[in-house]
Amino acid sequence: MDIKISPSMLASDYANLQAELEKCEKGGADLIHLDVMDGHFVPNISIGAPVIAAMKKVCGVPFDVHLMISDPYFYADDFIKAGADIITFHTECESDIEKTIDKIIAGGCKAALAVKPNTPIDAVYPYLDKLSMVLVMTVEPGFGGQSFMESTMPKIKELRAKCPDMDIQVDGGINTETVKIAGEAGANVFVAGSAVFKSENPAGTIAQLKANAKA
Ligand code: DX5
Ligand code: ZN
Repeated sequence: MDIKISPSMLASDYANLQAELEKCEKGGADLIHLDVMDGHFVPNISIGAPVIAAMKKVCGVPFDVHLMISDPYFYADDFIKAGADIITFHTECESDIEKTIDKIIAGGCKAALAVKPNTPIDAVYPYLDKLSMVLVMTVEPGFGGQSFMESTMPKIKELRAKCPDMDIQVDGGINTETVKIAGEAGANVFVAGSAVFKSENPAGTIAQLKANAKA
């Protein structure tokens, strides 16, 4: 499986988004992870479609949009139009999951489903044939800078055994050490916010994450 690193812009300097995106692009990021929070699905509010559309104009790396919102079906079109390449939403949301996946795919984007740490992995099983990626959250969604939950690794192992070719993403607490644990369990797409943006050398950290994930 291809190893992909997806820096989370949640940890970037929102006053200098263009420069932060350039750091990722020049640093070899495979995806750009954009965390959308509605203050209802999670107790935090971040950015929405207009900001993502503006960022898209100045960045050539594919956009990996993580919707932590209660009604992804209602808002999917906004993120498709904003330039998302992958749209991930949660099995725990209030929308009809199948209809939301179909809407995302009809809009020309790849669809992915996420599970929170306490949600069993079989919640994604009915939809696997339509999904491009599954996100196994390694922290409770809502905030950057939390500690990696190793207790979620059995879900990755189970999914990898079932789906040898699926992109399996992890998000939360990923750094140059925890990336090894998640990679060993079978993940191949790694979101990293604090690890990349709090680094003195973001490009070096992206390269190190990739090397350690493979090791
Ligand atoms: C948390 C978000 C993450 C967050 C990760 O709810 O989904 O993408 O930015 O941040 P770090 O890598 O700092 O744990
Ligand atoms: Zn995220």
